[in-house]
Amino acid sequence: MKIIATILCAAAILTGVTTVDRDLFKICEQSSFCRRCRKVEPNNSPFELVPGTLNTFDDSFTADLVNKNNGHIFVLNVEGVQGDIFRVIVDEKTPLKKRYRVTDALKGPAKPHSISVTDSKSEIIVTSGQNKAVIQASPFKIDFYRSEVLYVSANAKGLFKFEHYRTKPVSPPEGEENKEQEEPRDDVDNEPGAWEEDFNSFHDTKPNGPEAIALDFTFPQAEVLFGIPEHADSFALKSTLDGEPYRLHNMDVAYYELNNGMGLYGSVPVIYGHGTNGTAGVFWMNAAETWVDIYNEKNVPSLIVSEPDDEPLAAHFMSESGIVDAFILLGESPLNTFKQYTDLTGVAPLPQHAAFAFHQSRWNYNDEVDVLNVSANYDVHDIPLDTMWLDIEYTDHKKYFTWDPNTFPHPLEMIANLTELGRHLTIIIDPHIKVTDNYNVHKDLTERDYYTKNKDGEVFEGECWPGTSGWPDLFNPDVRKYLADQYLLENFNTTTQDVFIWNDMNEPSVFSGPELTMPKDNLHNTEMGTYEHRVVHNLYGHMQLMSTFDGLVRRGEGKLRPFILTRSHFSGSQRYAAIWTGDNTAEWGHLQASLKMCLSEAVSGFSFCGADVGGFLRDPTSDELVERWHQTGAFLPFFRAHSHMETKRREPWLYPEATKLVIRDAIRKRYTYLPLWYVLFYEHERYGYPVMRPLLGHYPNDPEAFAIDNEFLLGDRLLVHPVTQLGATKVDVYFPRNSITGEGDFWYDADDFTLFNSVGYVTVPVNSYKIPVYQRGGAIVPKKEVIRRASTLMKNDPYTLIVCLDRFNEANGTVYDDDQRSYEYRNGKYVYSQIEFKSNVLSSKLIDPTATFETLAWIERVVIAGLDKVPQSATLSTSSKRITLDVVEHQRAYTIRNLAVNIAEEWEITLNY
Ligand code: GLC
Repeated sequence: MKIIATILCAAAILTGVTTVDRDLFKICEQSSFCRRCRKVEPNNSPFELVPGTLNTFDDSFTADLVNKNNGHIFVLNVEGVQGDIFRVIVDEKTPLKKRYRVTDALKGPAKPHSISVTDSKSEIIVTSGQNKAVIQASPFKIDFYRSEVLYVSANAKGLFKFEHYRTKPVSPPEGEENKEQEEPRDDVDNEPGAWEEDFNSFHDTKPNGPEAIALDFTFPQAEVLFGIPEHADSFALKSTLDGEPYRLHNMDVAYYELNNGMGLYGSVPVIYGHGTNGTAGVFWMNAAETWVDIYNEKNVPSLIVSEPDDEPLAAHFMSESGIVDAFILLGESPLNTFKQYTDLTGVAPLPQHAAFAFHQSRWNYNDEVDVLNVSANYDVHDIPLDTMWLDIEYTDHKKYFTWDPNTFPHPLEMIANLTELGRHLTIIIDPHIKVTDNYNVHKDLTERDYYTKNKDGEVFEGECWPGTSGWPDLFNPDVRKYLADQYLLENFNTTTQDVFIWNDMNEPSVFSGPELTMPKDNLHNTEMGTYEHRVVHNLYGHMQLMSTFDGLVRRGEGKLRPFILTRSHFSGSQRYAAIWTGDNTAEWGHLQASLKMCLSEAVSGFSFCGADVGGFLRDPTSDELVERWHQTGAFLPFFRAHSHMETKRREPWLYPEATKLVIRDAIRKRYTYLPLWYVLFYEHERYGYPVMRPLLGHYPNDPEAFAIDNEFLLGDRLLVHPVTQLGATKVDVYFPRNSITGEGDFWYDADDFTLFNSVGYVTVPVNSYKIPVYQRGGAIVPKKEVIRRASTLMKNDPYTLIVCLDRFNEANGTVYDDDQRSYEYRNGKYVYSQIEFKSNVLSSKLIDPTATFETLAWIERVVIAGLDKVPQSATLSTSSKRITLDVVEHQRAYTIRNLAVNIAEEWEITLNY
């Protein structure tokens, strides 16, 4: 069996099969629990509250719930959580064994908010600030209100299901067939697949039998639902009722297909419903395999925004095991609701500057000379580059934490060479460990009994890149600590503090396993006891990230910000790592998908997202695709070119000169915007709003914008509509309607300040260099115009402030800087300034006057677009000087040069007329 599966996988990856092998992956019908949950009849819920069981506390209440079909008792717990959130937990009252609860997704315990409870026979009303939960006793249902508006209902469709743990039914001895059974039984017991299940050649022993949970959530105010990444699909979720539910099950899906809800590498079970009346969300905190059905009457993919008199949009979450633990996010506006989610699960911490500059990767760079040549060629061709990446071949026979002695005999020298140029190296460390005698990591894991076990309690072995491998049991904190220690320089002394880490294949990918992952009846030693892999599957990669992050923080003596890239992820993984969208294909559709996928991730906590630029699998269909992909990547948060070992080499200078110049221009453009990326990442950490945003984030009352996913916003400052079509000579850019003014905002073309001020689609011409990027009138964007070989060398370079005025002749923005790599900013070593243009005066004020940061960086230039009169001159005043400067007109904007004010200073520039 093992051999066949390995061959299947290797075949897909190595021999050029170019579509996903669907037979390797389940559809709902092939999964017993998905089948069972999906066939629950609506509007006939057997659950009701048990009278007289209410217990009220300061911030929560509990009451018993009964399943009338079998008499089994559950406990419902509703908690008030600070920030307009309710938490709903349902567990068995007296389970046969403790059911698993996810703990590591939250950044810390949810902060309680006091509640008051009124109880009548038919309902319980819980009030928490301006919010209210009304719990209907029979049939069980909860309605969640904010300011008396109903935003979310749980079990309004009556699809709630909770399969209690039970003992396996045994056939009664002869003559006792009619004797009453000792424990409640229901139809589930007789369902084929409930107690053991086969898929392809794999047998799942299911020792705990059926244990699924499911619940529906209705969003009465929503016109669009979105979230629940990771899927290669549109941002707006489509109806699934005539097809497959969206699946949340972390898997290594080679040649993944577009426009469907198959599970991919990451699972983030948060969903949002948005409409012109407001926004709400539900975070379904469950790490088991989960399927989500979307109820949306209009089952027309291109027209997914619902209208007010349609049936309310709804989502039906179906998980294989665990408990119901759901957070109801009553944020009212999209941004507040996104922030509620990051308040619970955390934000992406401010990255080192180099981490959001340009990265060059390939499977694989052959040897040290190759790496240094590629790096040197970036200089020859005057293209900036911050990081060179090494894929699995750098290791000694895929033994992580080692180097191939033939091809990488002097890693420290190679790293030093890059570091001297201001560059970094990233190396891959996968979680599978080669089973071989001459490998200390394998020896240690074996001796300490740190490997994941199979169903019989023996070390689980499977196939992955190294051949036969074991998988560290990362749910055990001692194992996490052991692996974290391997990153310390005393252990990995052929690396330095400057080396970044890439954790891949951590779904985990197991070539010989069911659906290319781990058997569900494998066993983990978690902090809560021994649990099957089934219950924790979607958290495996997350646990690796916790370990790697800890290792890198300690490697940097608590001073340096780690940079980790991960493929697998779950809610909360954003606290540790950036993500990329895995093994995409070098086709236009996958370029288009990169925006949609990162947008869904961004609203689900993952602000630091990107896709393999150029497409991982296959050779790009044209040079034009490579050009456009670099242009798109230049405006996505994580910007890395990467490719499969069987593709042709792709460094920019290997293309015709014209293509190289377009790529060079795109990468250089990225570097001009690094100060904007930095302040956006800083504000993400500080305020919790995503870096990359869907239009509805700022234009919540413009239904036309709700489902748009071929353009996006960076903060509230830039609108980006990358060119993602072959042969495009024009693109249709949508300019949204401002909710307050009811008009269009002013948008200025970032290249030449052409003004757009209408609402709706505008067709704009594009040549091969053009990246349609628009700066919002009213926004001030910091840039740097001197480009060096790496971002780390641009620290002290001058800033240019681009000031684009709104229709009231005003604008606002921020600038942030610090040492760009350490945690010193958390000790007040930074500068964060508010820049404002009002009544003809541009001023800079420190937002946190007690923060200090010594820098040589200064503001050299200010460009103002949108002035209705030509100023004669400008007067700059600081605490120590007052000078008059010329104002020069260029391309519809006015430039003031030679300001020479340090960015940590406060200053004012008055325009003189
Ligand atoms: C996986 C990764 C890919 C990497 C390859 C070899 O397929 O997704 O990026 O190059 O493994 O490590």
